[in-house]
Amino acid sequence: MKISDLDICKDKELELISSIGDIELYPPQEDAINAGLLEREQNFVIATPTASGKTLLAELVMLKSILTASGKCLYVVPLNALAYEKYRSFKDKYSFLRIGISTGDYESSSRYLAGNDIIVLTLEKFDSLTRLKPSWMRGITVLVVDEVHVIGEDKRGPRLEGAIARFLSFNPSARVIALSATIQNADEFANWLHAYVVKSEWRPVPLKEEVFVAPNDSIIVERVLEEVKNGSQALVFVNTKRGAASFARKLAKLMDSDPSLDELAERVDIGIDDLGEMVRHGVAYHNSWLHPEQRHALEEAFLAHRLKVICCTPTLAMGVSLPAKMVLIRNYKFFTPGRGTEPMPVCWVKQVFGRAGRPEHDDYGLGLIVARDEAERSEIEQIYINGEPERIESQFSQDSLTEQILATIVAGARSAEQIEQFLDSTFYAYQEGTKVAVFKEQLNEILLDLELEGLIRIDKDKEDIRLRPTEFGKLSSRLYLSINSALDLREGLTSLKSKLQSTLSDFELLLLLCRCEEVPPLRVKEALTIATSLTDNLELVYASRYALGSAIVAHAWINELSYQELKSKFGVYPGEVHTNLYVLEWLSYAAARIARYLGFEPVYARLNELEDRIRHGVRHDLLDLVKIKGVGRVIARNLYSAGFRTHEEVAKADLARLKRIPGVGTRRATKLKEEALMVNT
Ligand SMILES: Nc1ncnc2c1ncn2[C@@H]1O[C@H](COP(=O)(O)OP(=O)(O)OP(=O)(O)O)[C@@H](O)[C@H]1O
Ligand SMILES: [Mg+2]
Repeated sequence: MKISDLDICKDKELELISSIGDIELYPPQEDAINAGLLEREQNFVIATPTASGKTLLAELVMLKSILTASGKCLYVVPLNALAYEKYRSFKDKYSFLRIGISTGDYESSSRYLAGNDIIVLTLEKFDSLTRLKPSWMRGITVLVVDEVHVIGEDKRGPRLEGAIARFLSFNPSARVIALSATIQNADEFANWLHAYVVKSEWRPVPLKEEVFVAPNDSIIVERVLEEVKNGSQALVFVNTKRGAASFARKLAKLMDSDPSLDELAERVDIGIDDLGEMVRHGVAYHNSWLHPEQRHALEEAFLAHRLKVICCTPTLAMGVSLPAKMVLIRNYKFFTPGRGTEPMPVCWVKQVFGRAGRPEHDDYGLGLIVARDEAERSEIEQIYINGEPERIESQFSQDSLTEQILATIVAGARSAEQIEQFLDSTFYAYQEGTKVAVFKEQLNEILLDLELEGLIRIDKDKEDIRLRPTEFGKLSSRLYLSINSALDLREGLTSLKSKLQSTLSDFELLLLLCRCEEVPPLRVKEALTIATSLTDNLELVYASRYALGSAIVAHAWINELSYQELKSKFGVYPGEVHTNLYVLEWLSYAAARIARYLGFEPVYARLNELEDRIRHGVRHDLLDLVKIKGVGRVIARNLYSAGFRTHEEVAKADLARLKRIPGVGTRRATKLKEEALMVNT
């Protein structure tokens, strides 16, 4: 069966075939079409191996809906990077469609997305939209959930599950297409969604999965180099960030340098370590130390066959298509805080192996997992090579359920029955009926707790109760805060209320934000000493010990320290700083909204300013200059040093004067003036 044989190609023949290519469908794709994927109105679970072309099936369902029924589709993924990859690929492929993306921007009903045909969302943005229920969400005809096995993850799983259940409650006619290569209990999962299942073991490119016995690293290095000598590319998975970097270093020492990589090396080298030197030898590491821009540049170079090996942590595990003929897992045991070191789930190993041998790049793939000795070999063979991935199990807990109940009230549920209906519609209820019954018995208590915290109001009308979210409840759920963080912020802001605006330090505000569980803690040496030099609010400092590092780093960032300085001063890497700031920008917005709700206008203004300073990484005095498009913290500081204070002054400036400013120069001066004129227009 070819693309041109499909009914949807009949009207739009030229456009579709030129976009997709008149390719022969893969057998599992053909199975799905024969099962009525494009004809029936039913939901589908596509449980076929890695690289078997699940995305194309989802694309066809979306295209059919858009082209024949003026449909509008959501494509939900679990990672920002994956969202951008899909967005770019849909945009390149389907230039006649409108493609949108949103990966954050909580609390916004994102009306700008409404005009698109396909909207790519992260699962968090999807969840937040199901709480806001903008009218355009009701017009969605197809919901694709990619990598749906994430439902089994402890923190994000319940959010995805709750979001799907809520979405279907207000949009029951939308079709759900769920995709995963590693869903062992696909039938059970499909029953929950009333879906038809397409299952297969077929992979377009054969994938050999083997154990590789290597008592030490030099044998592993040799094996990887042998692959490279044969003209292949490899991904090596290592269990720690440091381990990934040091393994890359070992390989680099034994590989020839290539002058054509100099430019890439300079681009990714931001003076933190020897990444640039490794890159010159065709190797890189890839972990959360790196800034997303560095990671992206490395992925592109690997795709273009310029880098030969990437040593990574699971930051690269899911959904991506890279030309790695070989994937080698050096460590299958990983450390997770609170759980210690434990073997990775089979599901993860299968996902990682699935990066090897992608059809557009190679004709076979090799997945190796390292055993240190023969005894370990048979153990690994049993668990990972011959074993099946784990069942997906719903991960609802008391906390996540409470959050989802609030979200459901915010989305419009008004009675206990409606909450029960929501609970009944979750995968959790499908799998764990008895546990849900227990939760239902506790529902009254949960609702009373929510009322006590001021998140909902319970009105009694004779026998009936009527639930309503309070303004604060609405705000915190729509801001996508965990309940704990919303309450902490309210309490923290209230305790700062009495402080005079002038004595309230930036550091105190940052500390308040960094106490939220959404902010990953950063470890900084001498944190206590530094913190006490930045504020005299010792009570807050001592009550926030784990949050000090993140607040110190953010404080240094808004005082214009560079990534390089942050690394040498505090030992933190650009990627860690970036994640910290990404979360803090959202939290400062959220905290500002709460401060306004509480009527603390001066704190609101300070938090608003803080948000801008975090976004641009600048002191207060540069805030007007960074409004000019293309002006970052460095050029803004140079402009300031040359006497400019506002964008108006830049707009009126003498061109010759602008040209003399470092970083501006002759080339950019005219453009800069034009952009300065455009501010606020
Ligand atoms: N019928 C086909 N013929 C040739 N190439 C195809 C076909 N269908 C899909 N592909 C290509 O195969 C590659 C892998 O497809 P895709 O990314 O959809 O895999 P997947 O099933 O989602 O795997 P994973 O579970 O790893 O995400 C893509 O580059 C895609 O363009
Ligand atoms: Mg995929």
